Amino acid sequence: MTDLDSFIAGLPKAELHLHIEGSLEPELMFALARRNGIDIPYASVEQVRAAYAFSNLQDFLDIYYAGAGVLRTRRDFHDLAAAYFARAAADGVVHAEIMFDPQTHTDRGIAFSEVIEGLLSAMAEAEAEHGMTSKLILSFLRHLSEEAAFATLEAAEPWLDRIAAVGLDSSEVGHPPLKFAQVFAAARDRGLKITAHAGEEGPPEYVYQALDLLHADRIDHGNRALEDPVLVDRLAEMRMTLTVCPLSNLKLCVVDDLARHPIDRMLALGLKATINSDDPAYFGGYIGDNFRAVARARGLDREEIVALARNSFTGSFLPPEAVALHLEKLDAYVAAYA
Ligand code: ADE
Ligand code: ZN
Repeated sequence: MTDLDSFIAGLPKAELHLHIEGSLEPELMFALARRNGIDIPYASVEQVRAAYAFSNLQDFLDIYYAGAGVLRTRRDFHDLAAAYFARAAADGVVHAEIMFDPQTHTDRGIAFSEVIEGLLSAMAEAEAEHGMTSKLILSFLRHLSEEAAFATLEAAEPWLDRIAAVGLDSSEVGHPPLKFAQVFAAARDRGLKITAHAGEEGPPEYVYQALDLLHADRIDHGNRALEDPVLVDRLAEMRMTLTVCPLSNLKLCVVDDLARHPIDRMLALGLKATINSDDPAYFGGYIGDNFRAVARARGLDREEIVALARNSFTGSFLPPEAVALHLEKLDAYVAAYA
């Protein structure tokens, strides 16, 4: 381990862009398939990993939704999230805001309560066992209708006090934020924060729509905003958090080489970028791997790495007092390390 690697490992950080279904490791996929008596089209863990070669977002989504088919009971959702929290804690994550895609499960006949109660039980354990706080983001699938998103918001009603935000994910191109303006307004009326995937594969126009029509508090990815200097200035001026996912960008061909990843350009332009893992079981690494890989590929210095971690706390949905406490601990870690 290099000095930079151990600095990154111990650096307190928050994860703001993580799909819990995307943390399903092949080993757990097999174990759950066995437990639930489900056939999966793979003979071995190695064969599953070999199938994870994607040339775009849709390639990945097809495999990701199929993989989620082994998740059936609240115990399955608990085990999935508990495994993620253990990995994240080992990477220095002290707070995680995790997305879940209820429609991926309710459309297969799984009750919303099974999904969310399993996740909530693992979140309570993560706080007790790892001292890690967490929040839930309910993400709507954008390839489905706005009506279906409304039905999901309604199904979530009994748990809204335990859901921090709503998000928008799945196939981006052809499904602009505009399509969901009404349901996001309804979510805002219920006091939920707003985040949306925009500018991963979709054009800068989708980032404008996420800001102007959804009133997003955060933008997930946002890479293609860099194509529009007026948009970059606006995002920088408003200190909008971008939840950037370097290994995801590489695996989904959003960038062709990590050596050309724009993470340091984003910081230099005044954009409030953060580092996240997106779907770590599918993209080859958790948040620590993302920090290390992009730091090495782009030659990031310690100041840039600290700025990225700092942004993860100020960009979180934690109350200001909690953010201030995390920043104090971050500063103490950096000072002690020097
Ligand atoms: N669902 C899971 N990961 C995603 C991503 N990177 N983009 C859009 N939808 C997703
Ligand atoms: Zn994502």
